[in-house]
Amino acid sequence: MKTIRDLDLKDKTVLVRVDYNVPLKGKKVESDLRIRASLPTIELLLEKKVSKIVLISHLGRPEGKENFDFTLSPVAEVLKKLLPAQKVGFYPLPKAGEKVKIPEDVKIALLENLRFDPREEENDEEFIKNIVESVGAEVYVQDGFAVVHRAHASTDAISKVLPVYAGLLLEKEVENLEKATKKPEKPVLLIIGGAKVEDKQPLIDKFLGLADKIVVGGKIAADGYKSENEKIYVAEDFDEDAEGKKLDIGPLATAKIANFVTDAKTIIWNGLLGYAEDPAYATASVITAEMIGEKAEAETIICGGDTAGFVENLMKDHPNLNYSLVSTGGGASLEFLLGKKLPGIEAVEK
Ligand code: 3PG
Repeated sequence: MKTIRDLDLKDKTVLVRVDYNVPLKGKKVESDLRIRASLPTIELLLEKKVSKIVLISHLGRPEGKENFDFTLSPVAEVLKKLLPAQKVGFYPLPKAGEKVKIPEDVKIALLENLRFDPREEENDEEFIKNIVESVGAEVYVQDGFAVVHRAHASTDAISKVLPVYAGLLLEKEVENLEKATKKPEKPVLLIIGGAKVEDKQPLIDKFLGLADKIVVGGKIAADGYKSENEKIYVAEDFDEDAEGKKLDIGPLATAKIANFVTDAKTIIWNGLLGYAEDPAYATASVITAEMIGEKAEAETIICGGDTAGFVENLMKDHPNLNYSLVSTGGGASLEFLLGKKLPGIEAVEK
């Protein structure tokens, strides 16, 4: 993949596709993980003395209609706080042939939700071409790892309009996921949790050849997941509530996972091990996250929206924890691990 690292971008206007599809509570951003994850690319572009950075993203699924429940304006407010030295502007999507009027002193511009126009999801070349022309973009950067599994105008059709280069987040995600899946250092440990067995079974099947150990915990194990395969360890004991509901895996299973983690050189964790929203049932997930985060020498990947969010929160109180990658992409990382072709990565210049 060609990245922005070696490009001379002085005085250029750069259009950057980010994924700011963040959880909102009313008009407040609940998790700024994806916004913070875009900062290294923005900072590198500023160092390279670009003329302007124009950021584009989707938020939610407004189904091709202007619906201000899905406006990116709360994200613009967070960006202003995260980049206090820069003037950040927020602008509507341009109509056909219209120029986005960005004042001279505004270095960073965020455009409104791409999915306010149905042509984004229709992968319409004219739609993205109009955005490129409306801001005078000379270079296109793909940094929205979380959306690369979608064949949309800003991930796929764009490659017919401008050469596409990878940003630093896309590069980091792809490098780590490749390291863990193509000739990974052994032993390889896959830890699976969460609730929906139909989502996780393809990952278990895919990793049977690659992993040395696969652990199944979470609701999937509590619901009675069974396997005869000796590579697969299914949690054997559980913490229960007063009604006998199995809400976390128990101390025996947690201790076994701890041993597997100690031995492993490559660890991929997808899915929480218990009902971790309730701290009473977060014990196994906390212990596992801490053990993985303390393994400085291993390749450690945390993926899946809930697991990544959980680990990010834990890191706020435990700054010593360190992972090779806390993936920003739920669906995208899953599809990558399953070996699927991702249109947004295919579109990046080879
Ligand atoms: C995500 O959050 O997984 C990405 O932003 C993609 O969003 P989508 O599932 O609505 O396409």
